[in-house]
Amino acid sequence: MSALRVLLLGGGGREHAMAWKLAQSPRLGALWTAPGNAGTAQYGPNLPLRTSDPDAVLALAEELRAELVIVGPEDPLAAGVADRLAAAGVPVFGPSRAGAEIEWSKTFAKQLLRDAGIATARAQAFDDAPSALEYARALGGACVVKADGLAAGKGVTVCDDLEQAAAAIEQALVARAFGPAGARVLIEERLYGPETSAHAFTDGVTVAHMPFSCDHKPAFDGDRGPNTGGMGVYSPPSWLEPATARAIERDVTERAVAALRAAGRAYRGVLYPGMMLTADGPRVIEFNARFGDPETQALLPRLRSDLLAICEAVAAGRLAGVPVEWDDAATVGVVMAAGGYPGAYASGAPITGLDAVDADVQVFFAGAQRDADGTVRTAGGRVLCVVARGASVEAARAHAYDNVRRIHFEGAHFRTDIAARAAAPVEVRR
Ligand code: AMP
Ligand code: GLY
Repeated sequence: MSALRVLLLGGGGREHAMAWKLAQSPRLGALWTAPGNAGTAQYGPNLPLRTSDPDAVLALAEELRAELVIVGPEDPLAAGVADRLAAAGVPVFGPSRAGAEIEWSKTFAKQLLRDAGIATARAQAFDDAPSALEYARALGGACVVKADGLAAGKGVTVCDDLEQAAAAIEQALVARAFGPAGARVLIEERLYGPETSAHAFTDGVTVAHMPFSCDHKPAFDGDRGPNTGGMGVYSPPSWLEPATARAIERDVTERAVAALRAAGRAYRGVLYPGMMLTADGPRVIEFNARFGDPETQALLPRLRSDLLAICEAVAAGRLAGVPVEWDDAATVGVVMAAGGYPGAYASGAPITGLDAVDADVQVFFAGAQRDADGTVRTAGGRVLCVVARGASVEAARAHAYDNVRRIHFEGAHFRTDIAARAAAPVEVRR
């Protein structure tokens, strides 16, 4: 089989990285991305689409005669896009709505964790503020308040004391700052320790683990400022003991896949548990039903195998038959964001210096669009991610920053400490 017609859903840095890797496959016939960005446009047309409308996605897939649809973000999964495509006989990479519930409902994820005996933080769900506050008090005030549903990464508040917890509970349950996604909240025990992202391909039976990676969520150096979608990434975390890594793969990822299968929830795509390494051992802090962003930008340059062949096999339920191999290089990705992000920011600034980037460095665009005259302009909060390789994280880090400094746009902001502490994780507190 060859010359596959593929439709990719999404328009972030993750999708540029996926399109870049898919385009290296000899099996790729044509690639469309919806809605796409300046990066995905290098590999095929971008198309406008309401990606969370299952009927609209199916209509486009049929019009394009797509033989595979690959879903990047979580919203289409939560909306049942994979179910609609599968029912119409269109192969799809991305879990069913029931499978993706592991991401779109934190209370469902908690229940699955408990039932499957997977270690996680203590938590309880509430839909009224007084009871939620009562539980936060029982936890000693230091807790985490999480909107149950999808809130574009903004629904989690890590609280130092009861006052902060009360404000976060009020914001979600009373002011409805996250809409229906915050009509129920999870009050969770606050954990301490370094974080790492586990990713795996799965067709619901076979699991192919990816290397571990680490995201940097806070906006500013020293992990200060508000949380963002992710300001940088590195892979692998050399501080993660191989035995711990293996334990996460076996006791978290593989167990969760088995639990989803036992519950009859179809799962063909990526499962990504977010982990915290506490003094008492690894704990799940969230599940995602898709590739991480910016983790993907650091992972896919390390994938030696054919991503399209993997996606096709996952969609067909025959992952066991394809190689999934990774190289030993380290990668570091530094996100360049628009000034003001994650708050209000300006768009439309021309991006210069892109042609000065070294040939072995990838610039994955996120919020960036190309004009008719070829100028690439900022068009979002996270604008691009500069990804470099090296024999070590330290070497990759130096190479990434050397290239970041060649790229310019008005108001550009980036962290200067991505992967700076990759050799030694943050101290584990109790
Ligand atoms: P999420 O949106 O679920 O990825 O959570 C955002 C961030 O909140 C995570 O990356 C953690 O840094 C933090 N977080 C989530 N749960 C906990 C927890 N139980 N204890 C401490 N920090 C947490
Ligand atoms: N890197 C965090 C996420 O993709 O959810």
